[in-house]
Amino acid sequence: MAAEHHPHTEPLSTEQYRASRPNICGPDSGPEEPFPIVMYGLVQPGFGRGSKELGCPTANLPDDAIELMASKCQHGIYYGYARVHQPPHGKPGDLEETEIEVYPMVMSLGNNPYYNNEKMTAEVHVIHEFEHDFYGHEISVLVLGYIRPELDYTSRDALKEDIATDIRVTLNSVARPTYNKYREDAHWTRAQIR
Ligand SMILES: Cc1cc2nc3c(=O)[nH]c(=O)nc-3n(C[C@H](O)[C@H](O)[C@H](O)COP(=O)(O)O)c2cc1C
Repeated sequence: MAAEHHPHTEPLSTEQYRASRPNICGPDSGPEEPFPIVMYGLVQPGFGRGSKELGCPTANLPDDAIELMASKCQHGIYYGYARVHQPPHGKPGDLEETEIEVYPMVMSLGNNPYYNNEKMTAEVHVIHEFEHDFYGHEISVLVLGYIRPELDYTSRDALKEDIATDIRVTLNSVARPTYNKYREDAHWTRAQIR
């Protein structure tokens, strides 16, 4: 495969980049350094714009969960798998069995230039239709590859369109056996991933 999975180091115009997006990211041979990266923590409340304005609910990770990845990776959009955990003694908001499975996820790491956030966040969109919120639940995330740089959009519709593309790219990318195998990994139980 071409070197399209390598993070871009030069500034790119948003429109230039949007016009030439690949459908799949990362080498076919499987995740390469520094991936896979594990993240784990209690879901934090975000600004709440993701669901309302973008139709894309996201779970924010706590600051300490982001440190390792932030030290190794540039801001950008990443893909992998995630699992929301049931609290050890039930509550808050018990989840259905189907909601605590491992699902593909797409994550934004950065300051969301479109919204001018000051603080760096890692926001995870788990690709599954959830019946319940998972605030107050712990989430395990396995980051397997890089998709694109964080872009400064001129319109919310352009950002929405690109998030839809990110979701397609994620599903294509993790469908390869060299990535899909991480879904079955034993480390998805809460005790082991910590
Ligand atoms: C897959 C994905 C891609 C994103 N790409 C960008 C981006 O390129 N530029 C940007 O400013 N924000 C990007 N965002 C972040 C959204 O702006 C963010 O989810 C929104 O601010 C909602 O956050 P909130 O729920 O904390 O309000 C992306 C989010 C996701 C889930």
